[in-house]
Amino acid sequence: MSETSASSVPAPRSQPTTSYEARPEQVRRVLLLYSGGLDTSVMLKWIQDEYEAEVVALTVNLGQPGEDYGVIRGKARQLGALESHVIDAREEFAREYVVPAIKANAVYGLGYPLFTALSRPLIAKLAVQHARATGCDTIAHGCTGKGNDQVRIEATIATLAPELKVIAPVRSWRMGRDEEVAYARKHGIPVKGGTEAPPYSIDDNLWGRSSEGRWIEDLEHAPDDDVFNLVTRPEEAPDQAEVLEVEFEAGVPVGLGQERLGLVELIERVGQIGARHGVGIVDQIEDRVVGLKVRDIYEVPAATILLLAHRELEMLVGTIHQHQFKPSLDQQWAFLVYAGLWWEPLRTDLDAFMEASNRHVTGRVGVRLYKGAARAVTRSSPYALYDPQLATFEQSGGLFAQEASPGFIELWSLQSRMAWRIRNR
Ligand code: ARG
Repeated sequence: MSETSASSVPAPRSQPTTSYEARPEQVRRVLLLYSGGLDTSVMLKWIQDEYEAEVVALTVNLGQPGEDYGVIRGKARQLGALESHVIDAREEFAREYVVPAIKANAVYGLGYPLFTALSRPLIAKLAVQHARATGCDTIAHGCTGKGNDQVRIEATIATLAPELKVIAPVRSWRMGRDEEVAYARKHGIPVKGGTEAPPYSIDDNLWGRSSEGRWIEDLEHAPDDDVFNLVTRPEEAPDQAEVLEVEFEAGVPVGLGQERLGLVELIERVGQIGARHGVGIVDQIEDRVVGLKVRDIYEVPAATILLLAHRELEMLVGTIHQHQFKPSLDQQWAFLVYAGLWWEPLRTDLDAFMEASNRHVTGRVGVRLYKGAARAVTRSSPYALYDPQLATFEQSGGLFAQEASPGFIELWSLQSRMAWRIRNR
């Protein structure tokens, strides 16, 4: 990392090497993906100065808790945005991105339910639509050059809109946080938290929240309490366990207990209940697609509970062969999405399989929540491949022909026995 002083911020690299990076003279009007945070606020001003371009700000609501979109819109206008748009895309995110992830039991690594990875193709798709509608030639985003998010956003734009260019100022301006704060001060951009310790790098939406940076980069440092913003620390969770019953229809969560709920509300509600019980804290080392290993702290109460309930229901309605096969496709699905290839045809192919295999994932699963743990305790489905009369210990005599088992075992083990004998001759 090269450090520069606030007064000598270097100009961006002027010769792009790819088909979609903008040359400075091509940039007239920029659609900026604006979060309202420090990076994109500095960008809003910097793009106007550096490129002498107009900026249209776009903020996407995907259910980030506690965000005030009125304030963000006002800030964008105050910093000189030509227009400032906020779109509520929660419903589309839930239906078109989170639901397919549930059907595919999507988890990357040991416990990341992909909330960021799922959001980027949608955010970038909306950026393309708004860029076209407002006459922008370029899209700007606030991703760094070290993460997966740049891959997801730029792959989406280059796929959906080859005519649009991209700029990623954070990747090229080589300002550190101190320079950004100085730049912000100089240009009257409000800075939260001042110059003390830089904040965690946060990303959140309906499906979860991640924190990176600060002590999280020190692998020998166990989590400080102040990183948890969503989930109650398990030791402070209620002493009383709670059973949350989730109802599914064809793999889609449709209700809690006896109440039918819209998707967004259901996910939010499960998240709140799980958070109260300390459920969904993940501390994981992860392989980014750009080669780096990173540690993330995730708070994913809704995903933890809904993915668990979904897998439990699959176990009840599917066959042994389906259960041997599907996880390998689930893993492929999760990797494609993690790796920024949402628009890859294989993902669509896999979704067709997921649709088919979720057809009978209908029923209810009760999940017990207690001090950080979530465990399925009840299951029911009209499609359950479970017959209590066959399964029961004592009464099985007449229905399950135990006398037939030795014949099965003899044939089932035939090749293995033969091989054993030959190899041990
Ligand atoms: N490691 C996760 C991922 O690559 C989360 C990234 C969080 N993004 C962020 N801009 N802070 O999907």
